Amino acid sequence: MTVDASPKKLRIAINGFGRIGRQLTELISKSNTLDLVAINDKMPLETAVYLYRYDSVYHLKREISVHLDVVHMAHQRILYSDKQSILDLAWEDLQIDVIVHASGVSMRKEDLMLYQKFNPKHIILSQPSIDDLPIYMPQIFPETWTTLPQIFSMGSCTSYCVAPLLKFFQDHFEIKHFIFTSVHCYTPSQNLHDSAHNDLRRARAAAQNIIPTSTSATKVLQFLFPELQHKISSSSYRVPVINGSLTEIHVLLRDFNLNKADFLTLLQNETKKNNWEHLLSMTDDPIVSSDMLSRSESCLIDIHSLDIRDNLVSLVSFYDNEASYCHRLMELFLKI
Ligand SMILES: NC(=O)c1ccc[n+]([C@@H]2O[C@H](COP(=O)([O-])OP(=O)(O)OC[C@H]3O[C@@H](n4cnc5c(N)ncnc54)[C@H](O)[C@@H]3O)[C@@H](O)[C@H]2O)c1
Repeated sequence: MTVDASPKKLRIAINGFGRIGRQLTELISKSNTLDLVAINDKMPLETAVYLYRYDSVYHLKREISVHLDVVHMAHQRILYSDKQSILDLAWEDLQIDVIVHASGVSMRKEDLMLYQKFNPKHIILSQPSIDDLPIYMPQIFPETWTTLPQIFSMGSCTSYCVAPLLKFFQDHFEIKHFIFTSVHCYTPSQNLHDSAHNDLRRARAAAQNIIPTSTSATKVLQFLFPELQHKISSSSYRVPVINGSLTEIHVLLRDFNLNKADFLTLLQNETKKNNWEHLLSMTDDPIVSSDMLSRSESCLIDIHSLDIRDNLVSLVSFYDNEASYCHRLMELFLKI
């Protein structure tokens, strides 16, 4: 295959063409400044094309065609491969700038180092690793935009929902305790029907149960806010919804004397100051999770949920767990 080497565009490769890989592909395909040059997934090309074209969540029919094993969509020409091991990828000549690893397979830093032979600027894991790979969420900590290492994790969708609020409370108040509850749609990490799984509750039928489980967001937030490590606690439920999630938070503060209106004004001002407009917003519409589909925010605060009792602040924020995370990845691409 001849590679169209445009020096101006960031050249991206994705390994793992599942919910995140496909959603990210769609966003990249609409960009004039990004080039998606390679996709790998263990599934055959015909399956990948079919699953990209038709989507049960977003009810889309996306444009995609294939010519001589090269995938075409919008102005992108993408080399597709169906390898199961990073060792078998033949990406040497693609001049890749950024690799996104989104296979959902548990990864260590040393597994991701196998990509180094392609000489990318960045290798990004779309989940926390199972070792101590650093986690960066530069939208929340802008000083890290210029210090991103070659290999890092970009946390998770739920951590992007909670982190801006945690940062906001940390910057303005003294936090005594920060409790969050993730109410998350089911994902491919659960079973459709009762069948074997390491996590016995995730073994149970996903579309039939409210499933208490764990959230990787706790690990992410404790990594990013080490000084608050012992003040953060969480619980998590998977619910029979195909996409769209929410987080409920309760923050106990040392001193707090704002009323609801002043609190929201302060949060709004902070959102502007931090350039979080695409990431955090508020609504007083009585929305439900499906109203979030395709929205870019990681944290859409339901103003009706805001409750203030002395030093205890509680609220709920919604997010499209797939789209919001892909938008955070897009922000990263555009910045680097
Ligand atoms: N779904 C979400 O809301 C969401 C949000 C943020 C982050 N993430 C993270 O992104 C990752 C992907 O999540 P997803 O929801 O897209 O999962 P998914 O199961 O839909 O997609 C994973 C894809 O990787 C492929 N795959 C599996 N093993 C592979 C291998 N060895 N080599 C190549 N391809 C392989 C699968 O065939 C599948 O198409 C997970 O780590 C998840 O935690 C998911």
